[in-house]
Amino acid sequence: MTLKVFVARRIPQVGIRILKDGGLDVEVNDSDTVLTKKELIDKIKDKEALLSLLTDKVDQEVLSSPKLKIVANYAVGYDNIDLNAAAQRKIIVTHTPDVLTETVAEHTIALLFAVARRIVESDKFTRQGKYEAWGPLLFLGQDAIGKTLGILGLGRIGSAVAKRATALGMKVIYFNRSRNLDVEKEYNARYVEKETLLKEADFISIHLPLTPETRYYIGEKELSLMKTNAILVNTARGPIVEENTLVEALKNKRIFGAALDVFECEPEISCDFDSVTQLKDLDNVILTPHTASASVETRKKMAVMAAQSIIDFANNKNPEHIVRLPLQISCIL
Ligand code: GLV
Ligand code: GLV
Repeated sequence: MTLKVFVARRIPQVGIRILKDGGLDVEVNDSDTVLTKKELIDKIKDKEALLSLLTDKVDQEVLSSPKLKIVANYAVGYDNIDLNAAAQRKIIVTHTPDVLTETVAEHTIALLFAVARRIVESDKFTRQGKYEAWGPLLFLGQDAIGKTLGILGLGRIGSAVAKRATALGMKVIYFNRSRNLDVEKEYNARYVEKETLLKEADFISIHLPLTPETRYYIGEKELSLMKTNAILVNTARGPIVEENTLVEALKNKRIFGAALDVFECEPEISCDFDSVTQLKDLDNVILTPHTASASVETRKKMAVMAAQSIIDFANNKNPEHIVRLPLQISCIL
């Protein structure tokens, strides 16, 4: 039997080639738009494999597709997938860790510096023809050297950010569910409680997965604890930050600035930018459209990894990057 695969959106061609060379029957949504749930369900009703994007809400209904056996998510995060429903139906879920770690860390650092040195704001100013002469007080920003970076969530990406921050002369503190002694030793990172981190850090970067526990992890209380020179960077998931509260804090100059690569309205089919209209009008925030992993090199590697998971499955091999499903965990226990 030839495995039938649906690829929910155009991805780097190398991934499609792997699937086809592996002898699979591949259908791609070539429209380069997110499918509605109805369209997705319709497309996968005769498919065993789905290569999904983080913009696809793979919920119970989608996972009820009669033939579906494997969902390979083209992302490291998998909050778009209902893992309980997948476990119930014994559907394998895979993701794309590791290959994007350094790329996301680079974007994080780029955003941090862009806010600290007010790059976007000054670019706009210069383009608008407002630059007349050098000024001693023109666009004063903040140094990174000697500052304290607080990392919330010290997994792969958080650790890669710690490594860069140390090399750039910053001190690193972090809060995580469990301590990471290797990173503590290697980058002189100090473990602190969440509240201490919020109070002590000059820059704060979020590298947590989105779960019920991390939704609104940064809200009014947390923002009120931050220093007035604090810069918040979020390249993780939008709903970890309560966006309205952040808007108020930025408007009132309660903190120095922020950079967001992700938004609270994601992963809805189209991110209604009305909900972030207010962010658009603020000069002390930089917005990028969920592109932290968007390098040519990394997106190709993600395509290869997602495709390879499906090929492995088709060949009765365990894919390398399987997401542990809730019921499987309780079985082991
Ligand atoms: C991107 O946000 C990812 O989870 O890969
Ligand atoms: C997961 O989100 C990671 O840190 O790679």
